[in-house]
Amino acid sequence: MLTSIKTNQFEGSESKKLAMMYFRVAIILFGAQLLMGLIAAIQFVYPGFLFEIFDFSVARMVHINALVVWMLYAMIGSVYLMLPDETGIETVGIGLGKLAFWVLTAAVTVVVLVYILIQVGPGTESTIWLINEGREYLEAPRWADIGIVVVVLIFYWNVFATYMKGRKTGIMTVMVADLMALAGLYLAGMFFTDNISMDQFWWWWVIHLWVEATWEVFVGALAAYALIKIINAKREIVEMWLWIEVLMLFGSGILGLGHHYFWIGTPEYWWEIGALFSALEPVPLVAMFVHVLYDWGKEQGIAKAKGEAGAVVKNGPAMAWIVTNAFGNFLGAGIWGFFHTLPQVNIYTHGTQFTAAHGHLAFFGAYATILIGMMYLGIQEAYGIKQLRATFKSKMAIFLITFGVLGMTVALTIAGYEQVLVERAELGAGWNAFFAAQDLPWYVQAQAWRLIMGVITFVGFIYLVWDLLTIGKVEQAEEAMVATA
Ligand code: HEM
Ligand code: HEM
Ligand SMILES: [Fe+2]
Repeated sequence: MLTSIKTNQFEGSESKKLAMMYFRVAIILFGAQLLMGLIAAIQFVYPGFLFEIFDFSVARMVHINALVVWMLYAMIGSVYLMLPDETGIETVGIGLGKLAFWVLTAAVTVVVLVYILIQVGPGTESTIWLINEGREYLEAPRWADIGIVVVVLIFYWNVFATYMKGRKTGIMTVMVADLMALAGLYLAGMFFTDNISMDQFWWWWVIHLWVEATWEVFVGALAAYALIKIINAKREIVEMWLWIEVLMLFGSGILGLGHHYFWIGTPEYWWEIGALFSALEPVPLVAMFVHVLYDWGKEQGIAKAKGEAGAVVKNGPAMAWIVTNAFGNFLGAGIWGFFHTLPQVNIYTHGTQFTAAHGHLAFFGAYATILIGMMYLGIQEAYGIKQLRATFKSKMAIFLITFGVLGMTVALTIAGYEQVLVERAELGAGWNAFFAAQDLPWYVQAQAWRLIMGVITFVGFIYLVWDLLTIGKVEQAEEAMVATA
């Protein structure tokens, strides 16, 4: 049985250094995502903003594609960070892994520049290959798609070979199996057919089966690993939770896919399947929530029994972000997802701002939070700090970002509610109804509030970057001072 894991293996671990490289690009892309979101949000309020200079469609596209890509970067970074700890050995083939990082980063830069430089034009076979594939969230042109597959194969080989050679923990076993599913699903979004129903059918395999199955299992594994590192949680307990979550997530998430098949021309039996299984999806999310809080509570209890002050939290900011993740995942995906998942409700809410409210809170709560936590873990190791305490900047970052995203969610929920009542129920959901609803006071005010809350989120992001850049040095100096005193 594994009981302890060395705290600082950073020195000499190329895998952990590569992790930090992935984190750095992730944060830059996160910033780009937010800037694009702000542009799109301003255009909601002032439609003439950057008219014919920077299209809303482009700002929105870069916003959500940057979102997916920064999260994938941070996920790959997290895996390189945990691999040496979990397997007990240095990552196999890390040189090739580094090469893959540079190839991927160069490709991402080219793709984003092309998006921004070529904003409008005809859609042809060659634009699918060179400019944009036109699938929301996965718009990379086909050449980049193929490149991504090659890079991911290298990454997977790093993980798999290290796993086979090193120690095989439960967390790593889940991770290795999950990554295979995650990478394999990407292939479903690479085929093009003229039939829009078929196209959407497969596209959802990537989008839904990523965020509601494979990514959720992924963050379950990350949380398990992080809780062991931060509060010395018992491996037996976190791994037991992890297996329960895997079972439930795949149980509900796979057929829960049906909630995206209400409107795209798939057979009607998907209504019942989608309703039942997607309604069950919050259950594993509760388990993940309980997992984090239970483990934390248990550590506190053990400490109390021993007459100590409480379990030492070895990384304050990371722990805060992981606890936010437990709440955020449950609220954003579980509650906001459940709201509109039954066909009887979705008939009114489909494609309204309600969907955007859920999209924001779910992506933020379930993924952004824990991935930021992993970055703090990386910094702690990079600077060899035994106990990383939150600074004023760490607190401002988590407060402003969380407050801002919650505020945006509330504003969008109000806008969506108004759309449901007026556009859908009263005016009959036609094209004119859509435009009539866009001008109603509640909708307009909600969009203004979203912009204000977006600015607050962005200020929080600046604090986050500032903190990530400085906390290591500050805390390292503090620890050195205490040691000499
Ligand atoms: C972390 C997990 C999740 C994330 C990141 C997420 C994200 C999203 C996003 C971005 C969309 C909009 C897709 C589009 O552009 O068309 C969406 C749609 C939807 N989500 Fe989720 N979701 C998650 C979990 C859930 C769960 C657990 C449920 C149900 C309990 C759910 C129910 C729905 C439904 C019904 C729609 C379709 C909305 C419509 O018809 O307009 N989601 N989700
Ligand atoms: C500065 C803060 C932000 C602003 C101002 C902002 C603004 C926007 C705007 C204007 C859209 C287009 C909505 C539409 O087409 O109706 C959008 C879409 C989206 N944003 Fe953001 N955003 C911000 C932060 C975030 C964050 C932090 C996340 C997740 C971590 C996120 C995830 C998404 C998603 C998933 C969509 C697509 C939603 C859908 O179509 O259902 N955004 N955002
Ligand atoms: Fe879904």
